[in-house]
Amino acid sequence: MLIISEMHISRLACELADSPTLALNAKAAQLREEGKPVIHLGGGEPLLPAPASAVEAGVARLGSGKIKYTAVSGSKKLKTAIAAYTAANYGREISPAEIVVSSGAKQALYNFLAAALDPGDEVVFPAPYWVSYPEMVKLCGGRPVIVRPKEGFEPSFDALKAAVTGKTRAIILNSPNNPSGAVLSENLVAETARFCEKRGIYLVMDDIYHQLVFAGKRPPSCYKFVKDAAHVVVINGVSKVYGMTGFRIGWSVSDKGLAAAMARIQGQITSCPSDLSQECAAAALNGPQDCVEQLRRSLLENRDTLLAGLAGLKKLKIRPPQGTFYCFADFSAYEPDSAKLCKRLLDNALVVTVPGREFGMEGFLRLSFCGGKQDIAEGAARICRELEN
Ligand SMILES: Cc1ncc(COP(=O)(O)O)c(C=O)c1O
Repeated sequence: MLIISEMHISRLACELADSPTLALNAKAAQLREEGKPVIHLGGGEPLLPAPASAVEAGVARLGSGKIKYTAVSGSKKLKTAIAAYTAANYGREISPAEIVVSSGAKQALYNFLAAALDPGDEVVFPAPYWVSYPEMVKLCGGRPVIVRPKEGFEPSFDALKAAVTGKTRAIILNSPNNPSGAVLSENLVAETARFCEKRGIYLVMDDIYHQLVFAGKRPPSCYKFVKDAAHVVVINGVSKVYGMTGFRIGWSVSDKGLAAAMARIQGQITSCPSDLSQECAAAALNGPQDCVEQLRRSLLENRDTLLAGLAGLKKLKIRPPQGTFYCFADFSAYEPDSAKLCKRLLDNALVVTVPGREFGMEGFLRLSFCGGKQDIAEGAARICRELEN
């Protein structure tokens, strides 16, 4: 008889949800291993390889054999490249002390929450939201407060404001948004930025997709709406815009005092991000930028392929994504339970999608269009066959 010892697992760990996307990746990989022709519309990374500049810098650095710890908050070279990137993309001059380089934008967000929250503090963000926000807030002892839009993917400023209490420490906005692909209106960002400044709470702009926008719909730089950026935190990274997810490099730009606190936290957890990856990220930022435009254009074509493929679903409600590589469509007329529908599509059509429930909106599915065009067309065709027959 198998005896399972009773391991102690913390309440915090028990209460945290598994990452739904990672679980779906594992399931898709297993089906593929069994020889099933799975189409993956659940992914979160571009197909394109890392830019040549990043690869060459990595190879040269590996050849030197000198890969060591860097400063906790990042290498001088990468920080200089991030300052230039911030000037070019946000029109803002920053000093190295305002930057903390992390192992992915995910860690940058975690550093912020760990540095800003005391137990019971609240963090406000709109639905649909990136799956990790609620769990990360909980991990840092806080309470997620979700604001649902009346329609579409953007709440009114009044609804956001009404969710703020004496315990609120931060509002997180993510534009363009995972999972909806929506770009938040300039008005909402401006009003929220001014409000946060007045109230002395942080505005966290998760800008990880900020260059991946269509039809010239560039999100505004949040800095232009505040007199003093002391409460603005911008999260960014090379994962999505440069297709460098596996390098695990992200960063935050914030007030120096907050940056120092975030670095103290990171220093005790990971010491510093990988030296090799920082070298590659600096090269990507400093190198030719045509790879970003190439990615943006291929994503736009993919988006249109997906929208055309889903046009046969007469009861589907869909808002064309304005950025990212995700489409968040309302399938509730076919099946109101998104987890059930996701399972049905995987079992019957061998198509991976992600249930809207995970992003705070039931009845929706997130379909990624970061894969190959043929797969996207085939995936959409299979969904149509499954639901229209
Ligand atoms: C909205 C959002 N923020 C942050 C991240 C994390 O990015 P990274 O891979 O750099 O940790 C993701 C990744 O999917 C994301 O979708």
